[in-house]
Amino acid sequence: MSLTEEIQKLKKEKDAVILAHYYVPGEVQDIADYVGDSFYLSKIATELEHKVIVFAGVEFMGESAKILNPQKRVFMPDATADCPMAHMVDVKRIQEVREQYPDAAVVCYINSTAETKTYSDVCVTSSNAVKIVKNLPNHDIFFIPDQHLGSYVAEQVPEKHMILNDGYCPRHHVITAEQVKDAKAAHPDALFLAHPECPKEVLDIADYIGSTSGIIQYAAEQDAKEYIIGTVEGVFHELKKRCPGKQFYTVKQDQICVNMMKVTLEKVKKCLEEECNEVFISEELRRKAMAPLTRMLEMAK
Ligand code: 13P
Ligand code: SF4
Repeated sequence: MSLTEEIQKLKKEKDAVILAHYYVPGEVQDIADYVGDSFYLSKIATELEHKVIVFAGVEFMGESAKILNPQKRVFMPDATADCPMAHMVDVKRIQEVREQYPDAAVVCYINSTAETKTYSDVCVTSSNAVKIVKNLPNHDIFFIPDQHLGSYVAEQVPEKHMILNDGYCPRHHVITAEQVKDAKAAHPDALFLAHPECPKEVLDIADYIGSTSGIIQYAAEQDAKEYIIGTVEGVFHELKKRCPGKQFYTVKQDQICVNMMKVTLEKVKKCLEEECNEVFISEELRRKAMAPLTRMLEMAK
């Protein structure tokens, strides 16, 4: 039996479903039942009947799936696959901002720990952050942890007073406008599509800004034949499937998320077979972290 067949068999036996983010290796995306951006995956997790979820992604994704679905068992193929940005929040700073701006809403990017979520009023993802911030009743917004998504939202919603945190994604943060200009010079007919985790100078020269799903959708709908992609290379797998005949280029070398790349087919099989790397969250933490996630699902409708 091939590895894929073994996984399919185990999935049936355990009543499991595999969710995968666009940044994990292509062969893992191919065996997944659902592939998508962070918002789609957190939403779909609440709509499935299966007893078991295998989350091919990083820790905050598995954690969010467990928080929203306490009755399901959630497994991570690699227990060390984590998003560094999720930890770039200082609880003391949240308390300070709350003291300084008592009416502020703490808006928390889903790329955050369960504990950070408990200090937040609402979660957002890159695909719904603008809409949610716009519709919050609060004027003062403390956006955590990503400075770049925060500054992008601030620009889109100028009527709000946004307070920014200093977190960033190590992969998107290092993409520069200079590198984008070089890539454009090499591919003059290409459109440049960027994830809002990129710095402002990069977003300022983008033809489109959006989540991983947004980028894929946009490229699929345009007539242009060439695209420079300002996000992690994992999206190329779906882009190539959806857009045969179109060309995709990275801005620079090594546009990979090392943590997402830890997820392999062998590890998917192992976690199903041995029921290892299960996500456990105490009921108190889960209940507190669930409130901002549920509010996001409501406000994103
Ligand atoms: P998306 O929500 O766009 O999939 O982004 C997740 C992420 O981690 C980006 O680096
Ligand atoms: Fe985190 Fe960046 Fe990887 Fe996204 S690409 S999961 S923000 S480290």
